[in-house]
Amino acid sequence: MKPVYILGIESSCDDTSAAVIRDGFLLSNVTASQAVHEAYGGVVPELASRAHQQNIVPVVDAALKRAGIEREQLSAIAFTRGPGLLGSLLVGVSFAKGLAASLGIPMVDVNHLHGHVLAHFIRSLPQEKKGEEETPSFPFLCLLVSGGNSQIVLVKSYKDMEIIGQTIDDAAGEAIDKCSKVMGLGYPGGPIIDKLARQGNPDAFTFSKPNIPGYDYSFSGLKTSFLYSLRNWLKDDPDFIEHHKEDLAASLEKTIVDILMKKLRLAARDLKIKQVAVAGGVSANTGLRNAFHDYARRYGWKVFIPPFSYTTDNAAMIAITGYFKYLDKDFCPMSAPAYSRVAAG
Ligand code: KG4
Repeated sequence: MKPVYILGIESSCDDTSAAVIRDGFLLSNVTASQAVHEAYGGVVPELASRAHQQNIVPVVDAALKRAGIEREQLSAIAFTRGPGLLGSLLVGVSFAKGLAASLGIPMVDVNHLHGHVLAHFIRSLPQEKKGEEETPSFPFLCLLVSGGNSQIVLVKSYKDMEIIGQTIDDAAGEAIDKCSKVMGLGYPGGPIIDKLARQGNPDAFTFSKPNIPGYDYSFSGLKTSFLYSLRNWLKDDPDFIEHHKEDLAASLEKTIVDILMKKLRLAARDLKIKQVAVAGGVSANTGLRNAFHDYARRYGWKVFIPPFSYTTDNAAMIAITGYFKYLDKDFCPMSAPAYSRVAAG
């Protein structure tokens, strides 16, 4: 049988990425990040879309080259249709449409968040494998935590996912980034807070935790509590942050991880599910990864933690999701628009 080659394209935020998958195995995954946003302490949408325009052709070329295939061999093109920054998405969507039309092959639209969840199903070629690649079995729970989302997803199949809990205000990554900004640290704050937290005392400071029903999250109160506490401490010691940045980072990280894990545990207990995965940029966090291993021991969970390269935005997760949709012949019309927030169609 002819192999199925899927080209995945991701451009929903500030990473331009392209990946090639053959029959479910990853051949290449190339990502160009955008350093231009560092100076602004956050992603500037207009600059992001311009950078995508510059990056998309070389990134796709590199992905095909690394995969060792010609574009004519592609079976379909999978692309992130949303949610994300509209200007950024438009670059990937337009490129995917143009390439698919010129090659006369189908297009598969991918929900970015489904991509994060299905990153757990990316398989490496036998010679590239670094360890056991176990995949979760359905149904499982996935904690999806990134700069824009904090959700508990009940994953019933490759295409049937139900969000059973989500943030009612800020996302976990957003809260970390904002607290890091308040401390005058760099952007994005997540990796910086993670590094500092390893040298700090997680019980040094206490910040307020939300008290909301069900499996939903809230992080805006914590952000405010962090800001107000810091302001008070700075009145007594103008160098408070410098003197305590490790403890502040460790205490902040612990609070966020506790909030995330408590609701996840509640959902796992109520639904009697023992297979629990984590996905999204914040899943790179050491404290959160440790908490997953700890909960696995304590509650008999089987946990799935993605390799670092699949935690942040990447096209491999888009290509694998596209591959499953391709097998179902779930194609998307040329007229399908990008969507920034609500899933269309
Ligand atoms: O999934 P992602 O790459 O895309 C967006 O949602 O934009 O997630 C990015 C988020 C940022 O908030 C970043 O600070 C956070 O993931 N992040 C981390 C770590 N690495 C990235 N948060 C905590 N610890 C980390 N090691």
